[in-house]
Amino acid sequence: MSLDLIDLHPAQADLQSLVQKGLHQRPRQLPAWLLYDPEGSKLFAQICEQPEYSLTRTELGLLQHHAEQIASAVGSGVIVEFGIGNARKVDPLLVAIRPSTFVALDISRCALEQSLTHLGQQHPTINMLGICCDHSNLRDLPEHAWLNGQRRIGFFPGSSLGNFLPDDAVQVLRCFRLLLNGGPLLLGLDQPRDPAQLEAAYCDAAGVSAAFARNLLHRLNRDLHGDFQPEQFDYRAVWQPQQQRIEMALVSRLDQIVQLAGHHWIFLAGEPLITEHSVKYSPQAAADLAAQAGWQIKHRWHDQEDTLSLHCLEPAD
Ligand SMILES: C[S@@+](CC[C@H](N)C(=O)[O-])C[C@H]1O[C@@H](n2cnc3c(N)ncnc32)[C@H](O)[C@@H]1O
Repeated sequence: MSLDLIDLHPAQADLQSLVQKGLHQRPRQLPAWLLYDPEGSKLFAQICEQPEYSLTRTELGLLQHHAEQIASAVGSGVIVEFGIGNARKVDPLLVAIRPSTFVALDISRCALEQSLTHLGQQHPTINMLGICCDHSNLRDLPEHAWLNGQRRIGFFPGSSLGNFLPDDAVQVLRCFRLLLNGGPLLLGLDQPRDPAQLEAAYCDAAGVSAAFARNLLHRLNRDLHGDFQPEQFDYRAVWQPQQQRIEMALVSRLDQIVQLAGHHWIFLAGEPLITEHSVKYSPQAAADLAAQAGWQIKHRWHDQEDTLSLHCLEPAD
């Protein structure tokens, strides 16, 4: 098995300035990728197993069921997955497409190492290349012999594009178009549906989503010398119909002062710190978004209830 890993993780100083910028905003909001330290990646894997969170099971079912059709739609080349997490989804594509190289991007180095080691054992003839980075800021893949002369096929499942607000999502899709160099993108997005169902999916009864959000405060304490008391924040996930999104936030239980990165931060009772958004896209909204970023949707596979789609995008020109 051949495995290589390139580490382009943002430096500690960048982390500090991102967090300070987010805490100065009103409402306060931090980039979603901060949720994924080693513990966050573990908790996200547990969220995917919760009965309320059907997205992973539905998307995996679609990939397994349509793998051959997807393979003929996207053609051959190296597969580039944006945000591999615990690598639950790419296996049917590796089997159907049989690329020479699989490239996995993730902000969590620990998730990358574990996932690529596991996939490398399952697929010993495929080169496994990991790139630890913020993929929303990556203009191209780093030079690597395994990529020379290879067509690129992008894979972005998990409705992760929904973590970006629409203007940023367009930018991300534009960047991916350049990075994929003319190749297609397989994009998984779930759709707006019953708000109660959506809110339950992001606030499971077992409290794993809440633990995932509070872990962000533990991470900030560790990485930026903070003294957040995570139990002094309530977790909430609310459907916002106008924006067609779920907003996830930690809400201060009381007036409190937190030290972080050498500064004092005042949190008033009831004040939210937004940890994440998840924007939902109808097929039409997905097509509009793709068009703004220079893509067109060539195929769409969806589940029976039409709650989640895998879109095959190709460059529009
Ligand atoms: C919602 S999880 C989805 C995981 C997997 N793709 C799935 O569909 O189950 C998002 C994954 O992308 C990674 N991630 C989130 N934001 C990222 C960013 N800006 N750049 C790179 N990786 C990111 C996280 O570490 C996590 O593994």
